[in-house]
Formats: sequence, C-alpha cells, structure tokens
Amino acid sequence: MKIGILGAGHIGKALARLLAEAGHEVGVSNSRGPDTLRDLAHEIGHGVKAFSNEDAARFGELVIETIPFGRYMDMPAVQVEGKIVIDTANYYPERDGQIDLGGLSESAFIARHLPKARVVKAFNTISAQHLETLGDVGKPLDERRAIFIAGDDTEAKAIVTALIEEIGFAAVDTGSLDDSRVQQPGTAIYGPDLTATQAREELHKLQGK
Ligand SMILES: NC(=O)c1ccc[n+]([C@@H]2O[C@H](COP(=O)([O-])OP(=O)(O)OC[C@H]3O[C@@H](n4cnc5c(N)ncnc54)[C@H](OP(=O)(O)O)[C@@H]3O)[C@@H](O)[C@H]2O)c1
Repeated sequence: MKIGILGAGHIGKALARLLAEAGHEVGVSNSRGPDTLRDLAHEIGHGVKAFSNEDAARFGELVIETIPFGRYMDMPAVQVEGKIVIDTANYYPERDGQIDLGGLSESAFIARHLPKARVVKAFNTISAQHLETLGDVGKPLDERRAIFIAGDDTEAKAIVTALIEEIGFAAVDTGSLDDSRVQQPGTAIYGPDLTATQAREELHKLQGK
C-alpha cells in the first residue's frame, strides 16, 4: 500500500521504517520541506520518499498524521478526502498551547479538521522507542504488545488492525472516536506495555464492564 506520513520525528520515523520494511511504499513530510528529509529517507532505505505535506497526503492511499497536536491546522484536508488517516497525536497544553477542543476527544477534534477523512486513532499510547523495538510477528496475537485503536469507521479500523499486525503488534479497539478519550494522556492504559490480553482486561476495568 502507498502510505504518506505527515511528520518525520520520533513516531513518524519509526513508522516509516517499520512499514517500509513490511513492504509498503512510504513517503514522509515535515515542517521544513523535502530537501531537509532526503538524508533521513536515504537512511531508512526501502525507497522511502521525501515530500511536502500536500504531496505526502496525495501520495498516500492511507495517511498517518504524526505532527505536534498544536499544528493540526497545517494538515492538508483536501488531499486526504475519502482516505483513512491514522492519528497518533496527543494533546499536551504545555507543549501545544491552549486549544479549545469544544468538548471533543482529541481525535474527534482532529477529525473535525479533516471532515471527509476516515480517522482512526492509533499508536498514541506507545513510546517511539518501544514502537521501534517491541513488535514481534513471531508471537501469537494475544501475547503481542497492544496498540489501542479507535474510530467511527469499522472497515477503516479493520485495515489499520491489519497494518498493526503486519509490524508485529496487536490492535485492541477502544470504540468510537468519542470513546477514544480512554486512551488519551493520563489514563491507565496510556503508556504501559500491555499484551493484548492484558490490554483488554485493563480496558474492561476502565469501561466498567
Ligand atoms: N514521541 C513519542 O514517544 C510519542 C508516542 C506516541 C504519540 N506521540 C505523539 O505523536 C505526535 C508526534 O510525536 P513525535 O514525538 O514523533 O514528535 P517529534 O519527534 O517532535 O516530531 C514531530 C515531527 O512533526 C514535524 N512537524 C512539525 N510541524 C509540522 C507541520 N506543520 N507540518 C508537517 N510536519 C510537521 C516535525 O518536522 P520539523 O522537524 O521539520 O519541524 C517533525 O518531523 C505528537 O502528537 C506526540 O504527542 C509521540
């Protein structure tokens, strides 16, 4: 699949490498333009391309946005219409500034900026270092490190689940974009390395099931 990644920092770089190694065509962007990304693309190898935001979004059949939350307005909305957009972002007011989410979950707020995209929240509860190192396709799904996902589009979540499994993790579904509050910073499932089995148990406790 062609995957455009907006943001080439800790998470963007890790995902570019993992997805390119898994055989996907990957293009990345940052805030400073493709000329500043050529060395990184070369270092990752596997034909990873350096793009502007607009070109990365246009290139991707699926797009991953992994830029600081406070820069949400820079994400190209038109080029992702109809596409799955994976949102990895977390809102930290001390880093991102005060943003009025209007009572929405963080990913629902992002989705409002990308009204025709099929937004799925994923990869926001794992550190970049663990993303790079903990994937293991040799393990049974229940024993793999969990990646929590959320979204309103069932088919989009199934496609993201398959991608997560391809790079050695297991997806655990927290529900809709509104439900995704449960995987935002500060919750019990934000951060710890849980297997899929443990993750489902912790999630059920949080959801009172
Ligand atoms: N680090 C983690 O372990 C971790 C884990 C889970 C989720 N997250 C979340 O994922 C998001 C990315 O985190 P990160 O740690 O990867 O960030 P990071 O290392 O600070 O990298 C941010 C990347 O986004 C790019 N960027 C900034 N503004 C942009 C814009 N307007 N348009 C395009 N690209 C832009 C930066 O490019 P320039 O260098 O050119 O500015 C850089 O490549 C954040 O919301 C973070 O909270 C992080």
